[in-house]
Amino acid sequence: LNYNVHRERRYILQVLFNGLRRLEYRGYDSAGISIDNDVAFSRDPNTPQSSSNPSLFPSPLVFRQEGNIESLVKSVYEEVAATELNLEESFCIHAGIAHTRWATHGEPAPRNSHPQTSGSGNDFLVVHNGVITNYEVLKETLVRHGFTFESETDTEVIPKLAKFVFDKANEEGDDAVTFSQVVLEVMRHLEGAYALIFKSRHYPNELIACKRGSPLLLGVKELNEGVCNASAFHDAKFLSKNGNPKELFLSSDANALIEHTKKVLVIEDGEVVHLKEGGVSILKFDNEKGRNGGSLSRPASVQRALSILEMEVEQINKGKYEHYMQKEIHEQPESLTTTMRGRLIRGGSCKAKTVLLGGLKDHLKTIRRSRRIVFIGCGTSYNAALAARPILEELSGVPVTMEIASDLLDRQGPIYREDTAVFVSQSGETADTLHALEYALENGALCVGITNTVGSVIARKTHCGVHINAGCEIGVASTKAYTSQIVVMAILALAIGGDTISNQERREAIIDGLFDLPNKIRDVLKLDQEMKDLAKLLIAEQSLLVFGRGYNYATALEGALKVKEVALMHSEGILAGEMKHGPLALVDENLPIVVIATRDACFSKQQSVIQQLHARKGRLIVMCSKGDAASVCSGGACRVIEVSYVEDCLQPVVNVVPLQLLAYHLTVLRGYNVDQPRNLAKSVTTQ
Ligand code: G6P
Repeated sequence: LNYNVHRERRYILQVLFNGLRRLEYRGYDSAGISIDNDVAFSRDPNTPQSSSNPSLFPSPLVFRQEGNIESLVKSVYEEVAATELNLEESFCIHAGIAHTRWATHGEPAPRNSHPQTSGSGNDFLVVHNGVITNYEVLKETLVRHGFTFESETDTEVIPKLAKFVFDKANEEGDDAVTFSQVVLEVMRHLEGAYALIFKSRHYPNELIACKRGSPLLLGVKELNEGVCNASAFHDAKFLSKNGNPKELFLSSDANALIEHTKKVLVIEDGEVVHLKEGGVSILKFDNEKGRNGGSLSRPASVQRALSILEMEVEQINKGKYEHYMQKEIHEQPESLTTTMRGRLIRGGSCKAKTVLLGGLKDHLKTIRRSRRIVFIGCGTSYNAALAARPILEELSGVPVTMEIASDLLDRQGPIYREDTAVFVSQSGETADTLHALEYALENGALCVGITNTVGSVIARKTHCGVHINAGCEIGVASTKAYTSQIVVMAILALAIGGDTISNQERREAIIDGLFDLPNKIRDVLKLDQEMKDLAKLLIAEQSLLVFGRGYNYATALEGALKVKEVALMHSEGILAGEMKHGPLALVDENLPIVVIATRDACFSKQQSVIQQLHARKGRLIVMCSKGDAASVCSGGACRVIEVSYVEDCLQPVVNVVPLQLLAYHLTVLRGYNVDQPRNLAKSVTTQ
């Protein structure tokens, strides 16, 4: 949205398309965009214009396309050419919206893509991140009022409801109803999670955004520094005051903003952001208060300081790499260094080695006294917690249990006031984990968050927590976040565990191991070519088993998950101790099996597993510590992956890397999309 500066339609489209490209990892099965039709409505902001005669305003243009962003870009330019829309036409104000979708309700198809519309004429258009849980009831009511629906989405009720509210106000003679009043009324009826942006034919050059549960950021570009530092950011007058040209951006994610500005406002639940003629006003809408009969007509105006994003554009570029996943695997020495920065303390006068987790220091006593520590997460984050579980049990002495978020909710499993519930989530916005957090809060547990996203819902709703600081992760398959999560949880174990004489040696060995970990990862990354060669051998396989135990049971699960999700090859992580109770039946000379047998307390047991697999002519690939190749393969032929030895509880951080590389190369060789695996999304914000 520009103010006092002229921008060509071409530029506006580019800004929206680039924004979508930055968000594509969140969903990529269809996309859409809406822009203004006519320069006549990009009027001088000093000339007020009433919305009372909407017939004067042309409908916004809407383009929607199945497939990825580039399919949308192509179709828009084709359509622009066909309709002779002028790309050079320039606007002094322009309000455009765009969306990339991960299908929840309804198959990927143009009719189900966003912006969803109130009907022909595009009186109201909406892009939505989240799920509206009461959409069926709303739909029935709207159908009774004569609306016809064209999509299977939950979102479609929103623009239709806006039109209903707007028409009703006009019928009742309120032709001065404002855009924010319409949206406030719509919000009052919505249940579920959402971040929404509204555009309307009746309110050209304006946008309204609001949220509940799903993330939303407002970015401000070219704001006068002096005024910005005054830190009160409240209303349209504030922005108009300096008269500078400016652009305002709304996005679910900082990635789409960072190339334009670092100045952001994190929008909070219940807030309604109104962009109008280069200015912003924010109103607070208290949903609960509204339902209980509170005053909705006078929502309070909000004032808050802008935050500065600690992020660089380079972080979201691929640099010298071909894919984000490849880049993120290779940057693990650096991401781990950042994760540990300021958290490990070595030396000092008494030469004590210790750890510091600023976000937890006031809660450690409570955690130590907990009845249980319950780890809760999904996917890779769950696996990371599983990898850290043994060291937490060992050092804290507190029983540690594991919960997959959806399963905890399905069972309504017991969570007590005396529990510490630790929520592990890269994005900090996974719906299952978030709902489990709400459940644990209701049950009175102390809730700790471990996330990679500052300001995320999980980071904000937990009582305390740790940011893993791995840097932005874009590949849908999590890699560097996994290793940073394990490291943070190892540090957590050290922080919770008492600093007694008896465990001092162990603690120091772990801290030394942590310091040295980035170097060990550099070492293991040298296996890249070896993993590519292995991938060539496995390229046509249907299935791959990965056996692990102890600290590396999680490595087996995570390695298999990587292969499954990106290389689209069936793969299963198996607890080696369970081999004899079923999986052994699968073993023959054809099925490739990775066995993780690095040095730790389980090593001799893993050696027996290898012997038993050899005895069944298993096709083995053994991951072992450097120097152990001959001994692990003494009983038969096998391929070996030798990795550096580290303190046992940190070994999963090293061991997962060759498996990440294997999954990456398998995917490329098999010709699949590494960064956007079929049917998956980076942040699953729906249950
Ligand atoms: C999705 C992603 C996975 C991720 C999981 C949990 O399934 O595709 O890569 O591990 O969500 O995400 P979170 O952001 O909570 O760690």
